Amino acid sequence: MALHTVLVMLSLLPLLEAQNPEHAGITIGEPITNETLGWLSDKWFFIPVADLKPDYRQEIQKMQMVFFYLTPKLINDTMELREYHTIDDHCVYNSTLLEIHTENGTLSKYRGGVETFAHLTVLKKHEAFMLAFDLKDVKKRGLSLRSTTDITPELQEVFQKAVKHVGMDESEIIFVDWKKDRSHQQEKKQLEVEKETKKDPEEGEA
Ligand SMILES: *[C@@H]1O[C@H](CO)[C@@H](O)[C@H](O)[C@H]1NC(C)=O
Ligand SMILES: *[C@@H]1O[C@H](CO)[C@@H](O)[C@H](O)[C@H]1NC(C)=O
Ligand SMILES: *[C@@H]1O[C@H](CO)[C@@H](O)[C@H](O)[C@H]1NC(C)=O
Ligand SMILES: *[C@@H]1O[C@H](CO)[C@@H](O)[C@H](O)[C@H]1NC(C)=O
Repeated sequence: MALHTVLVMLSLLPLLEAQNPEHAGITIGEPITNETLGWLSDKWFFIPVADLKPDYRQEIQKMQMVFFYLTPKLINDTMELREYHTIDDHCVYNSTLLEIHTENGTLSKYRGGVETFAHLTVLKKHEAFMLAFDLKDVKKRGLSLRSTTDITPELQEVFQKAVKHVGMDESEIIFVDWKKDRSHQQEKKQLEVEKETKKDPEEGEA
């Protein structure tokens, strides 16, 4: 009996550790509901990120501005991601499909044949959400924040606290300056195209 209890406790340890980040407001493994998916269906700005992967940091540093639209498809647990990056004063538009793993609260994306998982933390009060990557890996962990408007001092504090809590330094945080947007024209064009294809799906195909 006693041995069994010890074994159960040992097997729970990794789980308890993984739950620690919750003290900083990060949720790990909390299922994603349909209501949350509906809430995610919006335009978001990518503002601060703290990430220890050198190649990813380099990529972020090149970006002047990023915003994106999320469109969840409840039927097959996927989510369309349409991103507008401003790089070297130019707009780069990309669209891809994310997979939603509702049962463990993760989103995943294929990139170069590799599936990357992120834990979703919803901050409804702040109109924002965080994505946590590889929190257990001291060399690869990352945390990023996306919100519907520019970051408020209060939200910045929430994010800084979370970054410190998962074992990174505040100095690792990179802020993306959303005043450098060069994607406005392209966004307008793209939205018009989408509106047209929604309106006349048959004619759009012809
Ligand atoms: C979420 O929505 C999908 C598609 O409408 C539906 O099949 C599923 O049962 C819903 N899940 C819950 C928990 O309501
Ligand atoms: C899920 O549904 C969307 C919209 O209907 C479709 O574009 C996408 O290809 C589907 N993805 C998978 C993996 O079935
Ligand atoms: C856009 O997508 C292509 C193909 O998936 C990828 O090679 C490129 O790096 C992406 N660009 C950005 C800015 O994410
Ligand atoms: C979440 O669930 C998906 C699908 O079951 C699984 O592939 C993935 O490894 C899980 N991720 C984590 C971090 O538990």
